Amino acid sequence: MLFSPSSTGSNSDHRLTMSTSLSLSSSSTSAQTQQPKKIGILIVGLGGNNGVTLLAGQIANRDKLSWESSTSTPGAGRVSAPNYTGCITQLPPRGHHGGVGYKGRYAGVDLADATQAVVSGWDIRPTPLGDALYASRILDYDLVRQVREEMNTIPIMKGLYDPTFVGESQHPTATHIVTETEAATASGKPVPSSLFANIQYLRNDIRTFIDTNNIEGHTTVIWSASVERPAEVDFRSAKQLLETILTPCDDDTTGIVADISPSICYAVAAALEGCSFVNGGSQNTLSPGMSELFEHSYRKTHEQDVLLQQFPNIAMDTPAYLLGTDFKAGQTKFKTAAVEYIRALGLTPRVIASSNHLGNNDMLNLTSKSTLEAKMRVKSNIFGPWEEDQLDHQVKVMYTPFMLDEKRDVVEYTSLGYLHSPHTMLTYTRCMDSILCVPLMIDVAVWCDYFVTKQSRSELVAKATAYLFKVPEGGAKNVDPGFHTQMQVLDTALRATMRMTTTTNPETTTNTNINGNADNTDTLTTVLQKGVTAGVITEEQAKILQNLQ
Ligand SMILES: NC(=O)c1ccc[n+]([C@@H]2O[C@H](COP(=O)([O-])OP(=O)(O)OC[C@H]3O[C@@H](n4cnc5c(N)ncnc54)[C@H](O)[C@@H]3O)[C@@H](O)[C@H]2O)c1
Repeated sequence: MLFSPSSTGSNSDHRLTMSTSLSLSSSSTSAQTQQPKKIGILIVGLGGNNGVTLLAGQIANRDKLSWESSTSTPGAGRVSAPNYTGCITQLPPRGHHGGVGYKGRYAGVDLADATQAVVSGWDIRPTPLGDALYASRILDYDLVRQVREEMNTIPIMKGLYDPTFVGESQHPTATHIVTETEAATASGKPVPSSLFANIQYLRNDIRTFIDTNNIEGHTTVIWSASVERPAEVDFRSAKQLLETILTPCDDDTTGIVADISPSICYAVAAALEGCSFVNGGSQNTLSPGMSELFEHSYRKTHEQDVLLQQFPNIAMDTPAYLLGTDFKAGQTKFKTAAVEYIRALGLTPRVIASSNHLGNNDMLNLTSKSTLEAKMRVKSNIFGPWEEDQLDHQVKVMYTPFMLDEKRDVVEYTSLGYLHSPHTMLTYTRCMDSILCVPLMIDVAVWCDYFVTKQSRSELVAKATAYLFKVPEGGAKNVDPGFHTQMQVLDTALRATMRMTTTTNPETTTNTNINGNADNTDTLTTVLQKGVTAGVITEEQAKILQNLQ
């Protein structure tokens, strides 16, 4: 039995968590003497297309399933095996020059094994997860057939719901929700406000998940729920954020009830539990006040801070990161690589006319004006830091139900070249939306765990993971939007964390060249990495040599 319901907590019947460690030890080899660390992934919107695709992939990888696929590979025919294609934390480097993945790329950068991850989450829809996967038509039926029954047994934690924040199309299915009474009674004593009660309820969910599953790695809460309309708040400080949460609605002297979205509540709960929070949607969950709350140094002031003291048992022994906004999964990612290329050629980008259409539930939710505005804000804002003043960038999205999750995107790039002569490129992409997005969800959880083990500062982590987001915010605000530049920053950050393990002054080494500049101080590390990649020495030998430095 690989999934087991948790047995503690206020609403334990809603939980089922996934631990693949059991399956690995049962098909054991000598390599399993040391159990790899389990990280936690908590998905808000577990029953959505991303959530169920991620779960199906976990089961397929855990059980090493094979299935008849719609595509064929020469020599292998139409039978597919699970993989982590697209997850750069799970793939080893490939080819003469290395590149590609980060698994084993650098001695000292030990990344968690995604198959060991324990996955759970919330949804406001009660649809059993296997049935939701079947309805989504994302994966080959022969695979869905094999995972559906098990997925249908996985409990879904009740979601926190405010109908004013999601599109009307989502209202009829929102029946699996935390009630006011449930939230108010979760703490077992009177609570100052309903927002406080909701947050305590979610904290309880998170804590139960971690305790029941003995998660020894880091847990990351990922917003993969429907896009919300923007909340009419902008917290400049953690104090302002906490004061708002603690203010009872009927005591509000202004008469205005704070417009706090469910995603803000999930994020606060994650911070207080020492978990990272990733905003994969396009709403304004992130704010300077929220960033401050995630700062390890701020949470450590618990004893002195009268506001923080109102929240019992705050996790203070670990960093936690606040990352976002909106996963840069497909069209936008390519745009930031294509425009980076155009600029690198010295051309002047003038018109980018971009359209995409698909028919999944995410797009249905965006048929509401308020949620669409949130999406368009981030979609059209991606080139900001390049200050290409003459650039006319337009984006259109269409809801076409027949297409389900299989997104089509078309982008025409027109630039001016030598002697004002135009240069035009056209790209057309087709891919299941969730196949683009799920690898980012896995990678971000693995990166958060890795950087926590290195006690990395939040700004470094935000910059290192900026490549995952359409509009990097928090510590990554206004970074270079170029995809390859952002990947280089990730690489530089990883090498900086490696130096931290071999030097005595982490504070001075952490920030080195985080902006992606070339770095000549880690020659030994580079040589060792090359040795590992070329197969001249093992990773173990590289570690030993590095420690001799
Ligand atoms: N798939 C991609 O390529 C991609 C790329 C970038 C961003 N995103 C974002 O990821 C998110 C998920 O995408 P999807 O295709 O899985 O969407 P989806 O509509 O299939 O799933 C969203 C799920 O969230 C649930 N939900 C809504 N509000 C909730 C709440 N308050 N608490 C708990 N659950 C809630 C819904 O019931 C639904 O099951 C969306 O915000 C989308 O914009 C997706």
